[in-house]
Amino acid sequence: MIDVIFVFLHNQFYGMKTVIKNIAELIQTEKNPKQWVAGKEMSKLNTIKDAFLEITNGLISDFGSMEQWKGIEDWNNTEIIDAEGGMVFPTYCDSHTHLVFAESRETEFIDRINGATYEEIAKKGGGILNSAKKLQNTDEDKLFNDALSRINKLTHLGTGAIEIKSGYGLTIDSELKILRVIKRLKENTNIKIKSTLLAAHALPEEFSNNKAKYIDLIIKEILPKSVEENLIDYIDIFCEKGYFDVDDTKRLLKAANKFNIKGKTHVNQFNAIGGVKASVDLGSLSVDHLEEMKEEDFQALTNSKCIPTILPSCSFFLGITYSPAREMIKRGLAVALASDYNPGSSPSGNMNFVASLACIKLKMTPEEVINATTINTAYAMGVEKELGSICIGKKANLFITEPIPSYSYLPYNFGENIIKKVIINGIIQ
Ligand code: NIG
Ligand code: FE
Repeated sequence: MIDVIFVFLHNQFYGMKTVIKNIAELIQTEKNPKQWVAGKEMSKLNTIKDAFLEITNGLISDFGSMEQWKGIEDWNNTEIIDAEGGMVFPTYCDSHTHLVFAESRETEFIDRINGATYEEIAKKGGGILNSAKKLQNTDEDKLFNDALSRINKLTHLGTGAIEIKSGYGLTIDSELKILRVIKRLKENTNIKIKSTLLAAHALPEEFSNNKAKYIDLIIKEILPKSVEENLIDYIDIFCEKGYFDVDDTKRLLKAANKFNIKGKTHVNQFNAIGGVKASVDLGSLSVDHLEEMKEEDFQALTNSKCIPTILPSCSFFLGITYSPAREMIKRGLAVALASDYNPGSSPSGNMNFVASLACIKLKMTPEEVINATTINTAYAMGVEKELGSICIGKKANLFITEPIPSYSYLPYNFGENIIKKVIINGIIQ
């Protein structure tokens, strides 16, 4: 820890450089930063073989082939990292997680093995309401420490930016408790974190006969208080049969827009009920899940600034339909891929596994998957100017792999971790 602080301060005050050399292939390089990659462009991936990369003050300051490397100018102020023939990737951006939660839910997992469905478990008071009950009785410090250790694990699996939602509180106090935990995580980790208010995740029992009143509570109290305390970057709602409908979604997104807060919504997980169009029309940054898609949903997304985000770990874990990624790409859309890390439908935040699943189940190519988990998820969490690719001026959030035969080996080698070193803001973790 002291070493890390020393290197960090030294880098900050003396403009010290770090050079990574002997990189077999540098992946996802960009000359001019782009917002996202869409359609056919998703199959293009820029790389440089036999490369170096230079970091100054935590930012990427140069990169190219070893032949172009000018060598070390100032030995006293240069730290060398030898990639030893491994590849260097930009870290993953995971633009959809619920990683602040109180307890795991493996008893529901067993219920599902024995034949119950996700919907049946939720109707019996399991699911989101079960997680909310547990979180309401858990103190802030425990939530913080557990979430921090989850983030540390994910960092070592190659994730360098995470969006985190509330939604297991469902009361004003507990929703704010989660959001304050996320704020503390922002302040106490070096990865990039964005925070989303998902108070409209499920209807609390005390409002079961009055959904409008719960939406009122969110609009009139939880949302303004979250904005006032500077706790949120985005707003979310679970737009789904049995949860919240399109009118609720419109009301909430309109209210959030008044505070300049954009939507990142849960839509079309089990049923396509119009949530995509409502979200796009009201300026949402992303629509997430999309397992069930109708023609009108594709049309709403075409030529919009809203990015469809697919969560294949959720389909895998619940055994539900996989989202039609190929059709989206064929229609020229940009596709993002995130983990949906949460205790109910995706108890894993491992983006390497997301990448493998996307190849195997969504039939996306490794190039498409790398674009979908880096630059496109950076866009989906509003950080594409600072993360998501190897580009001069962007944050040096990178990982170095073991020597591997090709970049396709990463999604191919599913369930294994081939990441040897992770660098966040120029510092080895
Ligand atoms: O994204 N679908 C809504 N929310 C989560 C699951 C929440 C839970 O089961 O706890 C999701 O899949
Ligand atoms: Fe989710």
